[in-house]
Amino acid sequence: MKSFLVNPTTRLAGEIAVPGDKSISHRAVILASLAHGPTEVTGFLPSEDCLCTLRAFQALGVDIEVQDPRTLSIENRVHRLSPAREAIDCGNSGTMMRLIAGVLAGQPFRSRLLGDASLSRRPMGRIIEPLGRMGARIRAEGEKGTPPLALEPARLHGIEYELPVASAQVKSCLLLAGLTAEGMTRIVEPSPTRDHTERLLAHFGLRPLREGRAILVQGGLSLEARDLVIPGDFSSAAFWIAGAAAIRGSEVRILGVGLNPTRTGLLNVLLRMGAQIEESVVDAQGDGEPRGSLLIRGEKLRGTKIETGEIPNLIDELPVLAAIAALAEGETHIRGAEELRVKECDRIRCMVENLRRFGVPVDELPDGMIVEGGHPIRAARVRSFGDHRVAMACSILALRADGRSRIDDVECVDTSYPGFLRHLEKLSQTASPVATDWKDYLPWMQSRAERRALEGAPQFPVVAIDGPSASGKSTAAKALAQVLGIAYCNSGLVYRAITWSLIGKGLALDREMVFKTAVRQMKIECRIEENELHVQVDGKEPGEEARSPIVNAAVSRVAASSWLRERLLPIFRHLAEDRSLVMEGRDIGTAVFPATRFKFYIDADPKVRAQRRQNQGETDSIEERDWEDRSRAAAPLRRAADAVLLDSSEMTVEEVVRRMRDELRKRGFPVPEGASVP
Ligand code: DC
Repeated sequence: MKSFLVNPTTRLAGEIAVPGDKSISHRAVILASLAHGPTEVTGFLPSEDCLCTLRAFQALGVDIEVQDPRTLSIENRVHRLSPAREAIDCGNSGTMMRLIAGVLAGQPFRSRLLGDASLSRRPMGRIIEPLGRMGARIRAEGEKGTPPLALEPARLHGIEYELPVASAQVKSCLLLAGLTAEGMTRIVEPSPTRDHTERLLAHFGLRPLREGRAILVQGGLSLEARDLVIPGDFSSAAFWIAGAAAIRGSEVRILGVGLNPTRTGLLNVLLRMGAQIEESVVDAQGDGEPRGSLLIRGEKLRGTKIETGEIPNLIDELPVLAAIAALAEGETHIRGAEELRVKECDRIRCMVENLRRFGVPVDELPDGMIVEGGHPIRAARVRSFGDHRVAMACSILALRADGRSRIDDVECVDTSYPGFLRHLEKLSQTASPVATDWKDYLPWMQSRAERRALEGAPQFPVVAIDGPSASGKSTAAKALAQVLGIAYCNSGLVYRAITWSLIGKGLALDREMVFKTAVRQMKIECRIEENELHVQVDGKEPGEEARSPIVNAAVSRVAASSWLRERLLPIFRHLAEDRSLVMEGRDIGTAVFPATRFKFYIDADPKVRAQRRQNQGETDSIEERDWEDRSRAAAPLRRAADAVLLDSSEMTVEEVVRRMRDELRKRGFPVPEGASVP
């Protein structure tokens, strides 16, 4: 079980771009899979939820290539869907199950939809009933209309349907079913809900008609493929918007975020509470989704009343709104939100329980809660209840607690916001006073025992060295290890050995399933011999070939796989279990050994680095590799906040090593007496 440890902070500050919009990512894959022609989707959210949708359409016969985790090429070459060989796994995603049910209800083949334990408790009656009226034959195999869902082949016809509850998922499900139905489907919403499906349908050339509260879609028309850029997810940005607005002195800028008015209800509520938010819509791209940036400055907020009519446009933001209501002066009433009881968890009950653990007085209501703000927040240990938004909302509140809090069971955060913790650290760390000496960091550090238990901190002191290609870090790291008399590990060698082996097998590196299967079957062995890391794949060492031009050209792409990186983490950490070492790479200080106290980041002017590669007689594009290493979603290259930055452009290797040795001494590393740099 993974946990977040959240330290209190005085304010949030900095600039970020949040990952791609979850709702739009699901819909983009679905509609591009139904369209004629190829679509390139950029800004895709590679979260577990959205990957389930991606895998489902691959299983239904659509060609989907993952170019990099956020860029997909989608093409349905046969202009129809084919039956999936197995049941379709919708994971934790209610959106996916409801949307894909709409697509599959009118197909000439059978399908079965499954979900995880939490999704298997969520009601599907609200789609089964209207789809049934359209002629679909769907059976819920669980109790009280819950998944799994068995869909029989059917021909659908359009209907007129008034939604009993405002729900974008149900509306979208019926619009999608309407595409395969005969005639017109007319859906009436009690109040407007997010309209991404309508905007995307228009993007793909099929504009649904709007008549007041009704939306009409004509069946049997085809969608035309068109490239798509997905904006940042407002619901992910919401944690920083609400957090920064409620923590006085904060200043956070969020870039490239979706500002679709059916999603930004939170902004109106925060403004009413006294928040300072500047919104600049930069453009609405071809897909008609407005996007832009937000600047939030922290203020003392006042409590407010959130009414039924406001709920649909801020439904996902209610957990974080409940959390920051605890920081506002006076009471905040949330009413008309019974929908929250059937989300990934019962968000009313779970948030009430967690708020109480933080010492916040709160009353639970059948359709919401009343939060009494302005009381001191106690550090607490709380659970996510398997719900990503509960985990993140509680992390925001924990920033204002009187000590370190712990949020348990946070794996679920990856369903919508991979990288949340990194952003939390970034925005709250910027706020810490700038440390001039190592000792200055100590008050913010957890006890070593705690960190070790929670983050796999090394038993023996580890020196972590990160930096871009050809920054001189390998040479310096190797020399430093010699000076210290400890092992030297080049973590890049592991990525290189894997790439070398994949290339040797003639495998297409960008076919995700092929790649995963090959890596799963690989025997990867890392050994330290004579104080240096040796890597064997299937019993063979790559030797010189690890640095061949073809490996150089492909290794960054392999290293960008978050799935692979997760598998390698324990292997890297294991190396430090029985010895001290110097390890160099891109994420050693940020992801592999984030708890070590001995971190360096070595950089150099890109021109100097390109020259160095040339001098080594290697073919490598520094610029491209930098971009790939820095922009990838999984453990991108960045300097850890507590790493010492060394610019080696005009330094000799000896100078770099000497600086590191002296800094290590200062930080309390056991540098051998008389360790001199040759
Ligand atoms: O350091 P190097 O050039 O040998 O690394 C090869 C590639 O592996 C490079 O593209 C970055 C990647 N890498 C990484 O992503 N994480 C590491 N810890 C080490 C290397």
